[in-house]
Amino acid sequence: MSDTDRHPFLSGLSKHRGAQPTCVVIFGASGDLAARKLLPALYNLAVDSLLPSDFHLIGFGRKPIPDAEFRTQAATDIKKFSRREFRPDIWQRVEDNTSYQSGGYDDPKAYAALKEQIAAAEKRAGRPLQLVFYVSTPPSVFEPILENLGQSGLAGRGLGTELESKVIIEKPFGKDLDSAVHLNAVAARNFRESQIFRIDHYLGKETVQDLLVLRFANPIFEPLWNRRHVDHVQITVAEELGVGTRGGYYDGSGATRDMLQNHTMQLLALVAMEQPRSLSAEHIRDEKVKLLESIQPLRLGVNADAVRAQYAEGLSGGDKVPGYLTEKDIPQDSATETFCALRFSIENSRWSGVPFYMRSGKRLARRVSEIAIQFKQPESGLFAGDARYDLAPNRLVIQIQPDEGTTLVLNSKVPGLEPRTQPVRLSFRYATTYGSNTPEAYERLILDGIVGDRTLFIRGDETEASWRLFTPLLQSWQEQGRAGMETYAAGSWGPAGGDALLGAHGHAWRNAGR
Ligand code: NDP
Ligand code: BG6
Repeated sequence: MSDTDRHPFLSGLSKHRGAQPTCVVIFGASGDLAARKLLPALYNLAVDSLLPSDFHLIGFGRKPIPDAEFRTQAATDIKKFSRREFRPDIWQRVEDNTSYQSGGYDDPKAYAALKEQIAAAEKRAGRPLQLVFYVSTPPSVFEPILENLGQSGLAGRGLGTELESKVIIEKPFGKDLDSAVHLNAVAARNFRESQIFRIDHYLGKETVQDLLVLRFANPIFEPLWNRRHVDHVQITVAEELGVGTRGGYYDGSGATRDMLQNHTMQLLALVAMEQPRSLSAEHIRDEKVKLLESIQPLRLGVNADAVRAQYAEGLSGGDKVPGYLTEKDIPQDSATETFCALRFSIENSRWSGVPFYMRSGKRLARRVSEIAIQFKQPESGLFAGDARYDLAPNRLVIQIQPDEGTTLVLNSKVPGLEPRTQPVRLSFRYATTYGSNTPEAYERLILDGIVGDRTLFIRGDETEASWRLFTPLLQSWQEQGRAGMETYAAGSWGPAGGDALLGAHGHAWRNAGR
């Protein structure tokens, strides 16, 4: 066995280039995610010659859409949203093998028709195809899709062979612990775990993958990565945009379910977990689960570890924008939070006593996702305690997006005869070092789905471990309704309670860039 077989994370293009002949079926192909992310990702994979040589695409949805119309719409979406310029010759090769199947997600006849389409694609290919089902619909129809894939026999195709069917399931995976357990059971009834790919697109971001490299390929950090040296950790995933046209979905979800339970928890797990035994999918996921299971339950009520808020009218990019309660499809008495800040404690020998803060919200001051590791303030040493020296705690900031990069804040002597110090930044930026046109998360993840690498996908027990932490909080907020809901002006850094959550422990949000 070669090293790359043992470590799929390292296998890279060699593995992807040998991909099986494949048919990707997108459920919800007329939707927003397909238009903005999935179709452009497939196109970009085609540009890089990373799609299998025999590649077929079938869109599926309730609306009857003629093949020609679906192809034209796909080309329009790719022109609008692809990171790279549209090349008709490349799209033509994908388009020739692209079709559309309409039908109800819970209608067995639609799956029989889908089977016929797949058979026609296989006839054109002259060989059997691996089937990769991408479930990109609202979560209300995840269950009928999984059941019908099972009952129609499509899920069971090629079991145990290189052509084993796979299913990529979009988020949110459940809305609480019970529904996640139920959805896992539905998935397990119809697919083996090896066939199931629960997506969290943050794991496909280059900077998030780089976290493993930063931590475990740079041994200088390991001796410092613990409670002796780290004061606290801040994770921010801030968005400038509001709910836009997704109000119908968002109001049933809120910031905590939409962003924290999945994306920011994944960031936390990767930052805080122990070194996995290898880079295999199972070893990495084992460590993430262990970490999630060592997080203490959030305190509710007095001294709560959680703050929620809704954005009010304000300014975004200099323009006046409405408050959440007057956005399209949002009830005027909505009790859905658009901001959530949390304080987690991890009870293990590495992290006991180190607060992990996280926050995410819409209509914040600017779009930024980052992890800041704040080291302890030097208390002794040559310069400590001397008022002439303004010593800042060292800080490592991993900027996930935009302006991807890593910054280390150090103290430096200010040139001159006065004995003065000042914090300075050692900074590495992806765009400067590697150029800016790097693959989008969905490119990496779709490709990994096609080659069956589950390293960057969530395991069933992982999603349940995360829901176990969030469910009591969400239940308590549901019981409270709007009581205790704070507001913040659109374009600000969030509510006063978000600051107080850290202030109570002598900490303050970095409010990136400041
Ligand atoms: P859409 O609301 O655009 O729905 C996708 C498609 O599903 C629609 O085109 C429609 O196709 C069908 N559909 C819509 N509503 C229903 C319904 N009530 N019942 C059955 N089918 C319906 O969703 P998105 O594309 O925005 O999202 C798809 C999935 O991806 C969701 O799970 C979402 O949470 C997740 N996601 C989306 C992101 C985004 O930015 N959009 C980001 C991250 C995750 P038709 O009418 O033809 O059946
Ligand atoms: C999605 C959420 O999972 O992530 C959206 O449903 C959010 O509400 C999006 O806008 C943010 O993703 P990114 O990659 O733009 O940070």
